[in-house]
Amino acid sequence: MRCIVTGGAGFLGSHLTESLLATGHAVAVIDDMFRGSQKNLLGCKGMEDYHLIMGDASNRANYEKAADKLRGVDCVYHLAAINGTRWFHERPDFVIQVNLDSLRVALDFAITRGARFVFTSSPEAFGEQPEMPLDNNSDSLFSSAAQHGRHSYGASKYLGEILVQHAVKEHSLDARIVRPFNGYGPRLPGDAYGQVTGIFLEQCRKGEPMTVHGDGQQTRSFTWVEDIVNGTRIAGELDEGLDGSILAGAAFNLGNPEEISIYDLAKLCLEVTNSDSEIRHHEIGHPGDSRRRVPDITTSEQALGWSASVPLQQGLESCWRWQIAEHGE
Ligand SMILES: NC(=O)c1ccc[n+]([C@@H]2O[C@H](COP(=O)([O-])OP(=O)(O)OC[C@H]3O[C@@H](n4cnc5c(N)ncnc54)[C@H](O)[C@@H]3O)[C@@H](O)[C@H]2O)c1
Repeated sequence: MRCIVTGGAGFLGSHLTESLLATGHAVAVIDDMFRGSQKNLLGCKGMEDYHLIMGDASNRANYEKAADKLRGVDCVYHLAAINGTRWFHERPDFVIQVNLDSLRVALDFAITRGARFVFTSSPEAFGEQPEMPLDNNSDSLFSSAAQHGRHSYGASKYLGEILVQHAVKEHSLDARIVRPFNGYGPRLPGDAYGQVTGIFLEQCRKGEPMTVHGDGQQTRSFTWVEDIVNGTRIAGELDEGLDGSILAGAAFNLGNPEEISIYDLAKLCLEVTNSDSEIRHHEIGHPGDSRRRVPDITTSEQALGWSASVPLQQGLESCWRWQIAEHGE
């Protein structure tokens, strides 16, 4: 397939780009480098079937450029978004703008070109839904908008899923939705705007205190990057589900059902890195943080033949080896 990957210089996008190229597809990345970097794509540089367009995924002209490079387009993988919890609180206006504007333009482009579409939504689209596991019938539950901006992200993904479903029904777009559950692996940002696994490993490496928000009993289902990327790639490759299901409008949770509290994750990071950092609780935490986030992956197993294959400890050890190779001990 000739694939456009928006946000392809980011954490998941760069691994997806590598995976698509390795399985014989051609890829044009569109990324404005807000959080991505060319370094993430160094392994692809110079490959005949790889192209990079540095620009805004909310600008239609960049998709036209990408399609020109590929001489057509078969599938758009839309990953461009503002991600990173701190942004959701500090710049909800920007999060909503980028996440929805870029999606609208990407959808419109795919509709007019008759290309397949894969949208990376998020379990945050379910907000603070307490009933687990999350499946396609779970309701989305958001707290009052006056309290905090946290759900700028989750709500943008919820509205994004509505836009995608509308495009499937009204414009016959062959679109599929994936929801990665807390991906981790090499290239995951570990700075203040990063995600928890990256932040913990970085704190261990520097011997700094590990910051656990709230009581640390909130749980997540951490999923190895290659597992997520395989599921995402397959969601765009298949013409129909392995169980014969129609994939247009289908949504897939890509998550490791192994649930762990943030406090236990911090302890596991200490064990894996052999660090003597101390664990410190930040009482305020992240307002709007869901207590649990566990996926029901039945649909992904049946239609995509997908399940998470890498246990958390093994993944953390690989991630740590990468971090050491990248930054030194
Ligand atoms: N990492 C996860 O565990 C996770 C979980 C659920 C959903 N997702 C979704 O998967 C996608 C990728 O996430 P990620 O973790 O790789 O985040 P990331 O921040 O590393 O990647 C997003 C990429 O989009 C780019 N981008 C931002 N605004 C842009 C714009 N206007 N034009 C072009 N590019 C732009 C950034 O530069 C970055 O490279 C996002 O849509 C995210 O919401 C990720």
